[in-house]
Amino acid sequence: MRVIICENYDEMSKEGAKIVASQITLKPDSILGLATGSTPIGLYKNLIELNKNKEIDFSCVKSFNLDEYYPISRENDQSYFYFMNDNLFNHVNIDKNNTHVPNGETKNAEEECKNYDKMIDKAGGIDLQILGIGQNGHIAFNEPDKNLITGTHVTSLTQNTIEANSRFFNDISEVPTKALTMGIGSIMKAKKIIILINGENKHAALKELLNENITTDIPATLLKVHPDVVLICDKAAYYGK
Ligand code: F6R
Repeated sequence: MRVIICENYDEMSKEGAKIVASQITLKPDSILGLATGSTPIGLYKNLIELNKNKEIDFSCVKSFNLDEYYPISRENDQSYFYFMNDNLFNHVNIDKNNTHVPNGETKNAEEECKNYDKMIDKAGGIDLQILGIGQNGHIAFNEPDKNLITGTHVTSLTQNTIEANSRFFNDISEVPTKALTMGIGSIMKAKKIIILINGENKHAALKELLNENITTDIPATLLKVHPDVVLICDKAAYYGK
């Protein structure tokens, strides 16, 4: 795993955007794996700027998001579907038909998950996956557990994640307790991965990525066996102060 330590969040976001921009330049029909949450917002802002300046072209890009709350309406401004339109898709020249977020409105979650993996495979697999990390070491919504699941699946959020994500909702009782999420296998199949980590509160999780151990108690540690991962972090997350 290559590690890039940046001065602050803005620098981290720029570094991340540079890698995504190179990917799109080298392969204009790239398949991107995208994340939500606070971490990638700065990276998305940089991509919007690069697209405005005609430095990158999203017209042939396809995207698959990692996860979505379940159940949730796509109109709900806390849904990841809404988030992606609001923070990226509405502002770049991507064809919305080429963007995919697991459908939190589905009546048949099992079917939705199976189809999601099939769609990714049919598109040719993810070229570059962007990840954030939970304070508890989750990636996408693969929460710490004895067993982790390979493919896209329905999962229950841990109390830690519900509390962390309640900052976006009016009240903690509004946070959905379930989600549809790509599994560890779906993520590990990506050809390249960048994981962005910022802030002191992610220091403990980041440290676990830099030691030799792999454990399902910290799902992100599985990334250590992937051949092409770049960890981009700020000093606060790296040094814990
Ligand atoms: C979001 C996702 C999550 C977040 C993680 C960190 O699509 O998959 O794993 O990356 O919860 O969230 P933030 O960035 O809000 O700290």
